[in-house]
Amino acid sequence: MLARLLSRPVSIERQLQTMRRDWDQRARQNAWHFVATGKSEWTAEQFFASGERAVADYILGDLTNICQGKAAGDMRVLEIGCGAGRVTRALARLFGEVHAVDISEEMLERARLSLAGIHNVHLYRNNGMDLGVVPAIPFDFAFSIIVFQHIPSREVIASYLREVHRLLRAGALFKLQVRGNTSDSSAPDDTWVGVALSEDDATALAFECGFEPRYSTGAGTPDFWLWFFKAG
Ligand SMILES: C[S@@+](CC[C@H](N)C(=O)[O-])C[C@H]1O[C@@H](n2cnc3c(N)ncnc32)[C@H](O)[C@@H]1O
Repeated sequence: MLARLLSRPVSIERQLQTMRRDWDQRARQNAWHFVATGKSEWTAEQFFASGERAVADYILGDLTNICQGKAAGDMRVLEIGCGAGRVTRALARLFGEVHAVDISEEMLERARLSLAGIHNVHLYRNNGMDLGVVPAIPFDFAFSIIVFQHIPSREVIASYLREVHRLLRAGALFKLQVRGNTSDSSAPDDTWVGVALSEDDATALAFECGFEPRYSTGAGTPDFWLWFFKAG
């Protein structure tokens, strides 16, 4: 009986509750550290400079794929898992409009405080797996960093892929980072070490959800980047 109970799969609802509870708790404990673990005590200047660096590293050098001939200032961008707004703030300096979701109200409270007065940012708390809270207006680019690596469920990742696909305009890019080191095992209720994707898993997921997986870097490592284009 006990063995049967222990081996019962954890429901998605329970996983989502656990994700929200854990991230709210991390936000209350030391939000900026859990967002970016490089320091235990960040100054605001250092924290937001690290967001600018992320945009420099992953976006500014990749504008051909991201902008596809559009001016960045004319683009509407979607961010999954914005946390305390570290990268969101840098995205808003570059792009015309940024819509960002997060599962944790505590993280979002900190983002709202830090981004107050930045009028091209729209923040939403979502249920942790779909984008029903975001207006269904066409997005030109979607981005996610240090979020999927923490999600312990392939089903939740697939749900986000389908949802981002729904909101992107045809041909647009979803650039996302996932955990690629499949040798690390993750437990279904571990909201820190999320599920890892192999190259084959990632490719299968992309096609399953209507994307063309065009490029990737870092397969097999914790920093596995994927370029999924919405089939046009
Ligand atoms: C390590 S932080 C990174 C935040 C931000 N991407 C950055 O780089 O500054 C991870 C964020 O993902 C959020 N998150 C975790 N699971 C999520 C889910 N299923 N849906 C939406 N957000 C989630 C957490 O609440 C947290 O704010």
